[in-house]
Amino acid sequence: MSILVTGGAGYIGSIVTEELIEQGEQVVVFDNLSYGHRAAVHPDAEFIAGDLADRPAVSAIFEHHPIDAIMHFASYTLVGESMEVPFKYLGDNVTNGLNLLREAVDHGVRRFILSSTANLFDQPEDIPIDEDERIIPGSPYGESKYVLERVLHWLDRIYGFRFAALRYFNAAGASPSGQRGEDHEPETHLIPLTLQVALGQRERIVIFGDDYQTRDGTCVRDYIHVTDLARAHILALEALAEGSRTYNLGNGRGFTVREVIDTCRQVTGHPIPAVVGERRPGDPPALIASSDKIRDELGWSPRYPDLETIVAHAWRWHRTHPFGYEG
Ligand code: UFG
Repeated sequence: MSILVTGGAGYIGSIVTEELIEQGEQVVVFDNLSYGHRAAVHPDAEFIAGDLADRPAVSAIFEHHPIDAIMHFASYTLVGESMEVPFKYLGDNVTNGLNLLREAVDHGVRRFILSSTANLFDQPEDIPIDEDERIIPGSPYGESKYVLERVLHWLDRIYGFRFAALRYFNAAGASPSGQRGEDHEPETHLIPLTLQVALGQRERIVIFGDDYQTRDGTCVRDYIHVTDLARAHILALEALAEGSRTYNLGNGRGFTVREVIDTCRQVTGHPIPAVVGERRPGDPPALIASSDKIRDELGWSPRYPDLETIVAHAWRWHRTHPFGYEG
């Protein structure tokens, strides 16, 4: 198959590309490199520098390549930023996705995987969160993904467009090959920031609030290994022949911020000083996925469910790439 991966120079997109190439697929990566890294793109993938806002450039991809399916990662992804600059999300994330979808439909492509998010579940009634949970996006970021999920629903009804929406909980870790990992600028995520303390790049980690109604007062999240996420994309793509689908993707286990920091201490052997700061606006107290549906329907199960392994893979990546790809 020939698969178009938008955002294939980013954290998750580059690791999905690596998995696809290892499976023998042909991959075309389209990325504007505003956040991604050219060096993250697998050397056997074809790389096209371009922006989804540029519709003729998107059209040209399909004219020059026989694309069978699309995996769409290219997106702004910061919950906090989306509360400050909502049009970047409600505007660009949505219109860029629509440009891609219009060109896909016009060129006869009918298979699509969307990176969606647990930020659809701001006030879950039940934890673990399954696919029947009511949708209340927690931010313009989550809303932008929900709009694209709804667009896909209609494209399926109208054109028989087959899609899978994968709602990631907290992607973490690095590729087991050691070659690809997290390199965000700015970095906002808990595990890489905590490991930067162990690398001596930061003095301490700030815990965003310890007065939540959780077992130690800090927020609970479900951390899923990025390679397990990647494998879910490949299974979902194979299953599209039997119809569109939506899955929540996590390990089904929650860890508090303090537990994550403790695990980073164990893995690195560094004391990692931590201080408690203010709550971060928009953080729900607890998000844990039920991934029973993808387990039952596709036989997906995580290979690396342990937080220690997730952190160990992240640590290997950060130690070997202390300044990321460009360093
Ligand atoms: N946290 C800290 N200190 C930090 C950074 C994070 O205490 O310096 C806390 C956060 O408050 C949160 C937890 O660590 O409770 C995890 O925070 P991350 O920023 O690593 O991840 P989020 O849960 O905020 O967001 C991630 C993705 C989003 C996605 C969301 C879905 O980055 O794109 O999961 O749950 F929408």
